[in-house]
Amino acid sequence: MGRIIAIANQKGGVGKTTTAINLAASLAANEIQVLLVDMDPQGNSTTGVGVQKEPGMPTVYDVLSGSASAESVIRPTEFDGLHLIPADKNLVAANLEIVDVRNREFLLRTALQPLAQKFQYILIDCPPALDLLTLNAMVAAESILIPIQCEFFALEGISQLVDTIDRLKSSIHPNLRIEGILLTMFDDRTNLARQVANDLQEFFQDEVFKTIIPRSIRLAEAPSYGKPILAYDVRSKGSESYIKLAKEIISRDQLS
Ligand SMILES: Nc1ncnc2c1ncn2[C@@H]1O[C@H](COP(=O)(O)OP(=O)(O)O)[C@@H](O)[C@H]1O
Ligand SMILES: [Mg+2]
Repeated sequence: MGRIIAIANQKGGVGKTTTAINLAASLAANEIQVLLVDMDPQGNSTTGVGVQKEPGMPTVYDVLSGSASAESVIRPTEFDGLHLIPADKNLVAANLEIVDVRNREFLLRTALQPLAQKFQYILIDCPPALDLLTLNAMVAAESILIPIQCEFFALEGISQLVDTIDRLKSSIHPNLRIEGILLTMFDDRTNLARQVANDLQEFFQDEVFKTIIPRSIRLAEAPSYGKPILAYDVRSKGSESYIKLAKEIISRDQLS
């Protein structure tokens, strides 16, 4: 059975999409079948793996609204083993339209269930909000990967996120767990980043991934070419760090 991981933090600009794209590609580079599900109406994961948004293109919106199966909207990418369920701005409407739907938090979970046999990893990129889209992603997932930017105010909003996860655990999703806290955009030349990283490691202890993602201009450039960092600049520090993160996750899963 495949593993489903949601990448969530309601704060924008912390590295969710960068992590979704590059972790998915790095997992796929290990000859693993990976599905990336874009749940952000901005659709940055979609363009980031080279899929053009065309009007009428079936997306995750069609899946949530019940007019298409998840399998039928999967798109191949140029990268071996990496598949995508795309999103575009239509997804904004889903947030409102599903409010009155029965089991509204379970729509994505139900839709992805038949795919768990086909993919070893399914990664879900969440929008920067604790809205119904993020709740659907969390309920569909067995674990949450939380990227946190190594800067002042890093912990802002984290307690709200952790509260939401705890609430899901004590109600509709008892097995939900935190996959790990991922420190992103780390710049080891600044004392502040080092201090924040230390504080986060002290605070979250073993929950923090050993791999830290450095600040790297190459990581920021890659999406404009529609490429994961592995295809854009495989020798860069950013590329190395996401390969390491993929290995960390794979080896943990083999141990457990
Ligand atoms: N490690 C990194 N080094 C440099 N820039 C990064 C890094 N991670 C993300 N970025 C850039 O920071 C911005 C926000 O990242 P993104 O992954 O889109 O965050 P989110 O999805 O949480 O909003 C983007 O412009 C992205 O290219
Ligand atoms: Mg994003």
